[in-house]
Amino acid sequence: LIKKETYLPLKNKKVVITAGGTKERIDPVRYITNDSSGKMGYSLAHAARDLGAEVCLISTSKTLKTPYGVALVSVETAEQMHQAINAEFKEAAIVIMAAAVSDYRPDHVANKKIKKSEQEMTLTLVKNTDILATLGSQKNDQFLIGFAAETHNVEEYAQGKLKKKNADMIVANDVSKPYAGFNKDTNEVTIFMKDEQPIELKVKSKQAIAEEILAVALTKMKK
Ligand code: CTP
Ligand code: CA
Repeated sequence: LIKKETYLPLKNKKVVITAGGTKERIDPVRYITNDSSGKMGYSLAHAARDLGAEVCLISTSKTLKTPYGVALVSVETAEQMHQAINAEFKEAAIVIMAAAVSDYRPDHVANKKIKKSEQEMTLTLVKNTDILATLGSQKNDQFLIGFAAETHNVEEYAQGKLKKKNADMIVANDVSKPYAGFNKDTNEVTIFMKDEQPIELKVKSKQAIAEEILAVALTKMKK
């Protein structure tokens, strides 16, 4: 009798992934948002599932196809995203903040459409909670991965975010490059971790990038 074994390093582990840009409503027909297709997050969900994880994908996307076997939680705002993560955080082995979370939201949401007038209009924005930094201050053994989409000074900003948010890994991409970042199927990233040399992943599919990010995380996680 031949016993076949499949090595699934994330079996019996929960991986929580956020994806997409949050939408912060101004009124019933308007909102502010961030560029982000959600593709990187969905590729990560796919890759984590293939490694045997129980995957929870918290997403703002209304168009991308959820990979089979992945549990989807649909959200719109940063506050909803934060609440959804809080419900999963304790049991999570890995949390990946691939979402583009809006840094600000309108100070209140008008429940009726705002009509135009002859005057200028001023919108007051209040700060959203930094979800990744909050998780960083609360974590026990969760391996916390953040992203940083930058247009300049990539290394400096990414290292700063790693430290300030108490993340275990920051995946940085230079979105000024034509083949990296928003709504593309390819990406090129640099992985930053504490006390480690940066790891550069040259341009390849988001799926391949996702697999490599998880492979690196696995080498660094407490067993
Ligand atoms: N993030 C978050 N909550 C926020 C803002 C950002 O969890 N309110 C997360 C993002 O999901 C990402 C990481 O923090 O994983 C870095 O986001 P980024 O926008 O690059 O950094 P910020 O700290 O918001 O700084 P800035 O936008 O000024 O570059
Ligand atoms: Ca931001």
